[in-house]
Amino acid sequence: MMQLYDQFKRKIDYLRLSITDRCNLRCIYCMPKEGLDFFPKEKIMTQDEIIQLVKNFAAMGITKVRLTGGEPLLRRDLPEIISRIREIPSIKDISITTNGTALEYQAQKLKLAGLDRLNISLDTFDADTYRRMTRGGNIKHAMNGIRTAEKQNFKMIKINTVIVHGENDQEIPKFIDYTKDHDVNIRFIEYMPIGQEIDNWKQEYVPLTDILTNCQKRGLEIKTIQLPGNGPAQNYKVTGYKGSIGLIHPISNRFCDSCNRVRVTADGYVKACLYWNEELNIRPAIYDFLKFKETVQKALNNKPLNHEMAMTNTKQIISPAPTWRHMSQIGG
Ligand code: 5AD
Ligand code: SF4
Repeated sequence: MMQLYDQFKRKIDYLRLSITDRCNLRCIYCMPKEGLDFFPKEKIMTQDEIIQLVKNFAAMGITKVRLTGGEPLLRRDLPEIISRIREIPSIKDISITTNGTALEYQAQKLKLAGLDRLNISLDTFDADTYRRMTRGGNIKHAMNGIRTAEKQNFKMIKINTVIVHGENDQEIPKFIDYTKDHDVNIRFIEYMPIGQEIDNWKQEYVPLTDILTNCQKRGLEIKTIQLPGNGPAQNYKVTGYKGSIGLIHPISNRFCDSCNRVRVTADGYVKACLYWNEELNIRPAIYDFLKFKETVQKALNNKPLNHEMAMTNTKQIISPAPTWRHMSQIGG
């Protein structure tokens, strides 16, 4: 079996595939307030192309696939895409990242299609904050989605919570308390400067450095745990709680050394790193395996050692050339 490696000998076995740039929300850290046209339909890969692309990656050693967006549930053929990926024997793990607003009606279909795991975005428990952070979303839809998914027996559900100064940084204890009775993994994520005005970002970025000490101050006993999978999160559990928490700190504590991922955008570009502008059009090579392999390897030979979004603090940003894409056009 072929294995994929980048120029620094990091083994790449995880594909993050965006299947649409569309979203029904407009989160403040992900999309601009207005503007940003969606890609026209003909620029988006078709279901058949997506399946062939995943088969190609599977033949190159990819064993884990995450479908992202925009919002992947906006593609009505998502269950079909999942069940067709399920038929590829060497793909061991299929997951999606979703805002959850359509899960109340879709979670069961996704489970039946063969979806293994879900990451659901939720930044707040407060209806007004939710409306502000998603620019118009209704928290009831997200909460109903999460509850429905929790009943479907997915493997460990992860909740993605991006911390934004002045919006939801006061709610961190509430999220930790949620894990008392819910067997989910709450992942606190540092706000990343992608598709953002850098000055605004500096105002709103919060390092995730105090979360554990704050828990201890509240008298909670926290221990480190290992969760299956080799993602970037450091995971912890409050003694006696059902769920767990994870810290994802790309800025304050970079984890690029263990990066195992390659990304493909909905319009068919391979991105070796979330942050940098480099990308290669893989769409014309989907039905030409040799050319496909060459293009992917070329992208990985250019995969940078790290993202340099900030060197441990926001004053030292050195990157002159971040990607032109907004997060919704990459998939996180
Ligand atoms: N910084 C950190 N995380 C982000 N996401 C989107 N934009 C950003 C950003 N600027 C995350 C969301 C979502 C996932 C798709 O990406 O939390 O869960
Ligand atoms: Fe949509 Fe997710 Fe981006 Fe929010 S973070 S705008 S839900 S893609």
